[in-house]
Amino acid sequence: MKAILCKAYGLPDTLVLEDIPSPVPGPGEVVIQVKACSLNFPDTLTIRNMYQFKPPLPFSPGSEASGVVKEVGEGVTHLKPGDRVFTYGTHGGLAEERLTDARTTIPLPDGMDFITGASTLYAFGTSYHALKDRANLQPGETLLVLGAAGGVGLAAVELGKLMGATVIAAASTDEKLVVCREKGATHLINYTSEDLRERIKDLTQGKGVDVVYDPVGDRWAEPAIRSLAWRGRYLVVGFAGGEIPKIPLNLALLKGCSLVGVFWGMFAQKEAARNGKNLQDIATWVVQGRLAPYVSRRYTLSEAPQALTDMMERRVIGKAVVVME
Ligand SMILES: NC(=O)c1ccc[n+]([C@@H]2O[C@H](COP(=O)([O-])OP(=O)(O)OC[C@H]3O[C@@H](n4cnc5c(N)ncnc54)[C@H](OP(=O)(O)O)[C@@H]3O)[C@@H](O)[C@H]2O)c1
Repeated sequence: MKAILCKAYGLPDTLVLEDIPSPVPGPGEVVIQVKACSLNFPDTLTIRNMYQFKPPLPFSPGSEASGVVKEVGEGVTHLKPGDRVFTYGTHGGLAEERLTDARTTIPLPDGMDFITGASTLYAFGTSYHALKDRANLQPGETLLVLGAAGGVGLAAVELGKLMGATVIAAASTDEKLVVCREKGATHLINYTSEDLRERIKDLTQGKGVDVVYDPVGDRWAEPAIRSLAWRGRYLVVGFAGGEIPKIPLNLALLKGCSLVGVFWGMFAQKEAARNGKNLQDIATWVVQGRLAPYVSRRYTLSEAPQALTDMMERRVIGKAVVVME
């Protein structure tokens, strides 16, 4: 079977496409014939050895995929060959066949296609956990989403709207913001050309926002925290901007606000039942058409390095998906 391989850590152009033997499932594992694999920012970090999970070399990147079960290992009872599934983990999706953990492999609901399935779990799973379990977002509250046209950002926009919040989407280009509007944002801020704090002040009549969803970090984190309302919650989701910001803690005191960490992968391990319930809610909403992952571009397996480069260069809106021929 063909697989994109990371044989030495580096940029996407160091990845190679090779023929390798099919994987064999061990106890508790499943092999799926991959139909689609969507990319997530951590995939761009894993290949550079910059992520907290470090698969041993060589490995196929690609944390999230959908496909058809080919073979199950000992002890796997909830899946059988032929089942349509979606799955997440640290790596392995950019291959025609993926070895994956049965505990994170879930039957694909009837009516959900493979591309949608491959684009659903990571972004909506992270953002729902963040907004519901970590921020306790309430109807009528104001939610600011930074990097709002990215994978998890756009999911936060859509979920924020679904949960009854007024969503302010902030992103780097007007083209990205158009999509945020389509997904339910009431207000838009182009943080390349506009002053983030001033615009938030104007939009909230000086009150500030109740919740900030921040997958970007870097220079946007501090102005976003300074834009929180009294008792606001700032969600630490990621640092796609590059720098991990250092925040003066007096801001938390002055605003009576909470700085709240979000780590969906660990939540899924430590609180599997709650995560399972969240994913069930998400799958239901996707099947009902109340949520819909925004897939802006499809790539072939051999184009996967280009897809990762596009993500690193901020060209992806919503999800980029590699579809197997
Ligand atoms: N905590 C968790 O459990 C969890 C789970 C999943 C992902 N994450 C993290 O969330 C972040 C976003 O992940 P994602 O998969 O949604 O990524 P993505 O689709 O690439 O979105 C990231 C967004 O960040 C913005 N950005 C600003 N500076 C950037 C830069 N130098 N390079 C790339 N993007 C930049 C871009 O928006 P603009 O161009 O509009 O600025 C981009 O749309 C990552 O840091 C990831 O590790 C965390």
